[in-house]
Amino acid sequence: MIFDTHAHYDDAQFDNDRDTLLKSMKENGVGTIVNVGASLEGCRKALALAEKYSFVYAAVGIHPDETGSLNEETFALLKNWCREEKVVAVGEIGLDYYWDKQPREVQKKWFVRQLALAKEEGLPVNIHSREAAEDTFQIMKEHAKGLNGIIHCFSGSRELAEEYVRLGFYIGIGGVVTFKNGKKLKQVAKTVPLTSIVLETDCPYLAPEPYRGKRNQSAYIRYVAEEIARIKEISTEEVIKQTEQNARKVYGL
Ligand code: NI
Repeated sequence: MIFDTHAHYDDAQFDNDRDTLLKSMKENGVGTIVNVGASLEGCRKALALAEKYSFVYAAVGIHPDETGSLNEETFALLKNWCREEKVVAVGEIGLDYYWDKQPREVQKKWFVRQLALAKEEGLPVNIHSREAAEDTFQIMKEHAKGLNGIIHCFSGSRELAEEYVRLGFYIGIGGVVTFKNGKKLKQVAKTVPLTSIVLETDCPYLAPEPYRGKRNQSAYIRYVAEEIARIKEISTEEVIKQTEQNARKVYGL
């Protein structure tokens, strides 16, 4: 069944129908969802969703845009959350030079701290990197030794994807691979072996074609799997099955 490795069902865009939607997942072929926290509040909500639904797990971490909310006190909170039963990863963490909402030095500092936290707690990481490919990779090479995880919503080159695979990381692929202008990601999907790919929505964002621009949800991952199957000339079911195995492996489920 479909494994959505990166979703944000805590987002306000799901406030009107969150329960109905989540209850419909199984019948739409979705077996497991990791709800990823991005802010302190998002982490709290991710934990609550994981508690409520047996097939939902949580990742806890502070997105680079939100690192201004971190201090020793809130970091200790994050550390405690890492020990909750249904927490499977630290994330999403990383660098965002597109929005640049926090000074880059602040983003880097808390990225490194959260990588160390994952190592201490024996958890994989979920990495966010936007317009910051070089700095992200430098920090990963230096501070992510011994860690594994997912490069979420991968947007880099084929060569960079191969470097991450060499480090033992998985490449997270979502709706963008179905876009007409998603050529770079289509190349990545072609080059990276299926054993190193996981599927994700990043919902409510980045809905695949034919829903581009609309609210995304985990059942739409089927369109992502179909596109990867087309690119790799294999069956959609094989894509869904192998990426589910990969996701279980990386998240330890
Ligand atoms: Ni996300």
